[in-house]
Amino acid sequence: MEKLVIHGGKPLKGEVTISGAKNAVVAIIPAVLLVKGRCVIENVPDISDVESILKMIEFIGAKVSKINKNTVDIDCTELDTYIVDKELAAKMRASYYLMGALIGRFGKAVVPSPGGCNFGVRPIDQHIKGFELLGCKTSICENDDVVTIDASELCGSDVFFDVVSVGATINVMLAATLAPGKTVLENVAKEPHVVDLANFLNSMGAKIKGAGTDVIKIEGVTELHGGTYSIIPDQIEAGTYMSAIAATGGDAVVKNIIPKHLDAITAKFVEMGTKIEEFDDCLRVCVDAPLKKINVKTIPYPGFPTDLQPQIVALLTTVQGKSIVTEGVWDSRFQYIDELVKFGVDIEISGRQAIINGGTPLKSCEVQATDLRAGASMIIAALACNGVTKISNLRYIDRGYENLVEKLKMLGADIERIDE
Ligand code: EPU
Repeated sequence: MEKLVIHGGKPLKGEVTISGAKNAVVAIIPAVLLVKGRCVIENVPDISDVESILKMIEFIGAKVSKINKNTVDIDCTELDTYIVDKELAAKMRASYYLMGALIGRFGKAVVPSPGGCNFGVRPIDQHIKGFELLGCKTSICENDDVVTIDASELCGSDVFFDVVSVGATINVMLAATLAPGKTVLENVAKEPHVVDLANFLNSMGAKIKGAGTDVIKIEGVTELHGGTYSIIPDQIEAGTYMSAIAATGGDAVVKNIIPKHLDAITAKFVEMGTKIEEFDDCLRVCVDAPLKKINVKTIPYPGFPTDLQPQIVALLTTVQGKSIVTEGVWDSRFQYIDELVKFGVDIEISGRQAIINGGTPLKSCEVQATDLRAGASMIIAALACNGVTKISNLRYIDRGYENLVEKLKMLGADIERIDE
């Protein structure tokens, strides 16, 4: 079994370069299915979720070739099927973006239930509601958990989402891009990856306005053309390294970022007493005094992201005093706490809140990643802990962090990946 072995307690110093955003690329690769032509996608992170989504579109008939580690050439001039492979779909959440893309391309889609991290119930009612308002007929086979969509009468429409959902916003945007007429999506997600998808589609000929605000307006076009597009930097990977630098009392520069995307995160780091220096496309995180306890609540963008909640909890275990972290997006995203407490930290869960009595030294231990960001949380705790930690279940971490071991080594961490 592969494990990470981390000898912690060393302040992270130097520079780290952030990769392309996972949650943008897993939407943009399916979006290429809407293009009867070739797209070259740059700044693609080399992570297993990208491998999975590329395999899914290859199964559909896309011709995929890697130009280099971070650039992929995808030709969707001809496709074979609107039916998505069940085993592949189960590997990741974003497989549901194939619904929106196949609706637009084929007027029909058969997509099995998506996989992904387990945060309790992860409904897709808002995706289905959006598709139906656009004129689709959907049926979900209870036994098989397969969504079958007939979009032969697809047309633009108004959709007001009941909840702010990244997935539903992206999926319905994909379906509406080639839908005749005008679509207005209200109460949409404003995350940078939603904007990145709209920018990609617009650069291929779509007419989408308002991405990044509460209302997205889409004028359906008849076709998209090919082109080259570069994925935005990963806001969550950046926040993960910022947390690791702060937790180790380090001083390092996080490069290749869009500082604006990190506003909610840097604000909390400043409140904690971390020194943050912002530049055009990088920022410096420096700890030169003991950090102060803070309270954090995760909410949709531009608020503090839920995908950094486990990492900030790990950081706050190292900070003296009682910090409270409230999860405001998912009903249940504290499954990883059972692992984190193995470091001897004092965390109590009360409903949607984690109450952290931080500041006692972390004890070395063996833990496992219970999901992607939970894995990042374990790594941050291990880096802050004076001792040796072993982390298993690395397949989760591999889903979303490119070159993690190399990047941490560049920051001076003592980390190895071993096969035990
Ligand atoms: N929701 C509904 N109905 C729906 C869809 C969502 O009630 O039809 C609820 C969910 O239960 C949740 C909230 O709305 O309470 C937000 O869910 P959302 O749809 O925004 O999440 P998602 O699209 O499934 C994406 C990211 C997650 C991230 C969330 C929230 C991708 C592939 N995944 O998931 O990222 O936590 O948005 O920002 O983009 C991760 O990267 O580690 C990760 C889990």
